[in-house]
Amino acid sequence: ALVDKANYRHFMAKEIHEQPEVVGHTLARYVDLAAERVTMPVKLPFDFNDIQRISITACGTASYAGFVAKYWLEKLARLPVELDVASEFRYREAPLRKGDLAIFISQSGETADTLAALRYAKAQGAHTLSVVNVPTSTIARESETVLQTLAGPEIGVASTKAFTCQLMVLASLAVAAGKARGELSDADEAKLVHGLVEIPRLMSEALTTELQIEKLAREISKSRDVLYLGRGTSYPLALEGALKLKEISYIHAEGYAAGELKHGPIALIDEHMPVVVIAPYDKVFEKTVSNMQEVAARGGKIILMTDAKGAAEATIQSLVTIVMPDMGATFAPMVYAVPVQLLAYHTAVVMGTDVDQPRNLAKSVTVE
Ligand code: AGP
Repeated sequence: ALVDKANYRHFMAKEIHEQPEVVGHTLARYVDLAAERVTMPVKLPFDFNDIQRISITACGTASYAGFVAKYWLEKLARLPVELDVASEFRYREAPLRKGDLAIFISQSGETADTLAALRYAKAQGAHTLSVVNVPTSTIARESETVLQTLAGPEIGVASTKAFTCQLMVLASLAVAAGKARGELSDADEAKLVHGLVEIPRLMSEALTTELQIEKLAREISKSRDVLYLGRGTSYPLALEGALKLKEISYIHAEGYAAGELKHGPIALIDEHMPVVVIAPYDKVFEKTVSNMQEVAARGGKIILMTDAKGAAEATIQSLVTIVMPDMGATFAPMVYAVPVQLLAYHTAVVMGTDVDQPRNLAKSVTVE
């Protein structure tokens, strides 16, 4: 089917705005709303109780979805997860135990390194499960189990809606694993499902930050470097924010675990380097606030994305806050992805780059 930009200037803008809808579709496939339970659309050919370890492999943005999933699977299902980028996993001869679970994440389902990693895991006797957006793709065809994301065709080279749909599938899978392993009670599951059901609405609310972000993008576009910081699941989101900005605006950006700041990157901080801090109000929020104080003390300009309104302003001067909707922190990455994507998008628009077709990049990397 031919896909058009509707009334948007770029596919990327359309795809960012489509997220509440397509994440909602994906949710409906993996969650039984009436029963308040997660339901896998296909019967899993393994028992989560027999799995001792999961490996997750992907490239780029899909690998950051996998990184978030590592936090979820470890916390909700108490399953150790090893995460690799596919180009490393396929060559490092990782020992996989026969019968363990190897998860692959790919929008296109054609990424060469991810496909090679899948074939390697299969040869080792692992169960293979892929989270893919294109159900007819090679990775989907060669995987034992396929969990489809219902993002619809993604045209912009910078992945947006595929990422948040991957997160929705992986969140559901983590809840299913936690339930199967007895780590979550019926009540825990119902509570988590409520959290998932809220996500599309919260994403719509997050889209209302766009005007503010458009203004901020004008500032960001003047910088040579941008630092993204986060803790917990916001750490992979910081990596994703930096990747998104690099690929479409060509501004150098780095994502760091906020706690790593004083182990090196703090040396870079001055008034010329904006620091984007992703900090939903969670158990580690106060820790992140002290990292922000360290940045502010060195003249760094902070852009804070948080639902803890007012909590940081009292002690930190050089701060712009993007106020996010109130929510539980567990599934926050799906909602915080929105301002992260919008910031990269609007910065690229200000810079006048080819947003949907950035230089040197292909939508699907089918060569090594
Ligand atoms: C994301 O914005 C990138 N263009 C890129 O990192 C992408 O996520 C990666 O190439 C993986 O692609 P896939 O999901 O189709 O396997």
